[in-house]
Amino acid sequence: MRVTEIIAHKRDGGALTTSEIDFFIKSVTDGSIEDYQVSAWLMAVYLRGMNHRETTDLTLAMARSGDVLDLSDVLPISVDKHSSGGVGDKTTLIVLPMVAACGIPVAKMSGRGLGFSGGTLDKLEAIPGYRVTLSMAEFKATVQQHGIVLAGQSGNLAPADGKLYALRDATATVQSLPLIASSIMSKKIAAGAEAIVLDVKLGRGAFMKTEEEARDLAKLMAEIGKLAGRRVVALLSDMNQPLGAMVGNTLEVAEAIQLLHGSAPADLYEHCVTVAGHMLRLARRSNEPLEGFIEEAAATLKDGRAFSKFRQMVAAQGGDVSVVENPERLAQAKIIEEYPATQSGYVAVMDAETVGVASVDLGAGRERKSDSIDHAVGLVVHKKVGDPVATGESLFTIHANDSAKLEQAKQRLANAVTYSADPVPPLPTFYGTISSDETIQQP
Ligand code: URA
Repeated sequence: MRVTEIIAHKRDGGALTTSEIDFFIKSVTDGSIEDYQVSAWLMAVYLRGMNHRETTDLTLAMARSGDVLDLSDVLPISVDKHSSGGVGDKTTLIVLPMVAACGIPVAKMSGRGLGFSGGTLDKLEAIPGYRVTLSMAEFKATVQQHGIVLAGQSGNLAPADGKLYALRDATATVQSLPLIASSIMSKKIAAGAEAIVLDVKLGRGAFMKTEEEARDLAKLMAEIGKLAGRRVVALLSDMNQPLGAMVGNTLEVAEAIQLLHGSAPADLYEHCVTVAGHMLRLARRSNEPLEGFIEEAAATLKDGRAFSKFRQMVAAQGGDVSVVENPERLAQAKIIEEYPATQSGYVAVMDAETVGVASVDLGAGRERKSDSIDHAVGLVVHKKVGDPVATGESLFTIHANDSAKLEQAKQRLANAVTYSADPVPPLPTFYGTISSDETIQQP
C-alpha cells in the first residue's frame, strides 16, 4: 500500500478503507512517512470529511497506536469523564470523589491546561506534595486500595494522536469534526474507558462556539463510542461564562473544597451533580431515571462522604492533607484587588475566554507547553450573566503576584463584561444530552 494513494483517495473525496486507515496510522506512529505527507492527508480530511465508519476506524487505529490500558483487574467497570476544556472547570476534583463515595471506584488520567483553558493536573499540583506522576503499578494499586486515583497519563497512550495534533496545530486543520472526535475518543479508549461521560462545552470560552457545532461533535463522539462498544453520554454545557466563581489553580481547589462541603455557586453545583449522576447511571448499567442518581451523588456532598474521599485521595497521592482541611493555607497571592463595574444595569456578557486569558496574563496558565505557572494567582468572578450590577460594585477580585501582570489583566478585563439596561435572562448550565444508547432514557 502506498501513502500517496491514500492521500489521493481522500483528496478526491473517497471513503478510506479500514486497512488504508490502519496502514496510514501505523506509518504515522513508526515515523515511516514524512510530516508533509501527513499534513497533506490532514488537509484532505479537513476539506473532504469522513463518514462515521471511517472516523471510528481512525479512532480505533489511533487508540491502538500505543499502550491500551486494561483496568479490568482493578475496576468492575471503567467509567471516565472528559471535558472539552474551559474556564473555571474544576469539576473533576469534585465529581470523582462523589462517584467514588457512592461505591464506584474511579481511576482517571487528566491533562494540563494550555492557553486560556485550565487543566486538572495543574490544579492538583496547587496542593503541596500531591503526586500526579504515578507508575502504572501505583495507579492501579491506589484505586484498588482507596477506590479513587487521579493522576497524569502513565504509559504511552495514543501516540499517533500526539503526532497528528502537533501537525494539525501547525497546518490550520484543528477545527475538523472527525479529527477532533477521533482525537478525544482515541485517548479515552486507550485509557481503558468502557463508559464515558463527555462534557462538550459550547460558547465564548469553548472550542465549539455554537450549539449546532457542539451538538454535531457530541453526536459523532457518541456514535464512535457505540461503534467501538462503549457507552457514551455527551452533555452540552455552557462555557460562555466561567463555571462557578473561581479561576486559577489554588482558587479552584479552594472552590472545589467548598463544594465538597456542600456550598458553591448554583451552576457549579448543578454541573457536578449532573455529571456524577450520569457516571453512576452508566457504571450501574441502569435505565432508571437520572434524578435518582443525581440525588445519590448530591447526598455525598451533604453528609461529607465526598469530602472524605477527596481527603483520602490527596493523602494517598502524597498531598498535604492539612491544606485540604484548612484551604486558607493554600498558597496566597501577594496582591488582592477588586475590579469594579463601570456601569449600572444587568450583566449581558461575562466572556469566559477573556476572563481565562486574563488569568493567563496573571500567570495562572501557560501559552506554551514549557511555560511554568503561578498556582496562587487568578480571579474570583462575582457576577453571572443576568445578575443586576451597580456602578462601583466589584465584578472580580484579582489575585496577583506581580503589579505589571495585574495591570495587563485589568486592561484585559475591561473587555470581559457587557452591560444591559434591560433585564437579561440567565444562561442555562446545560443545552442538552446525547446518548450512544437509545435504551438510556433521557432526563
Ligand atoms: N481535545 C483533544 O484532545 N483533541 C482535539 O482535537 C481537540 C480537543
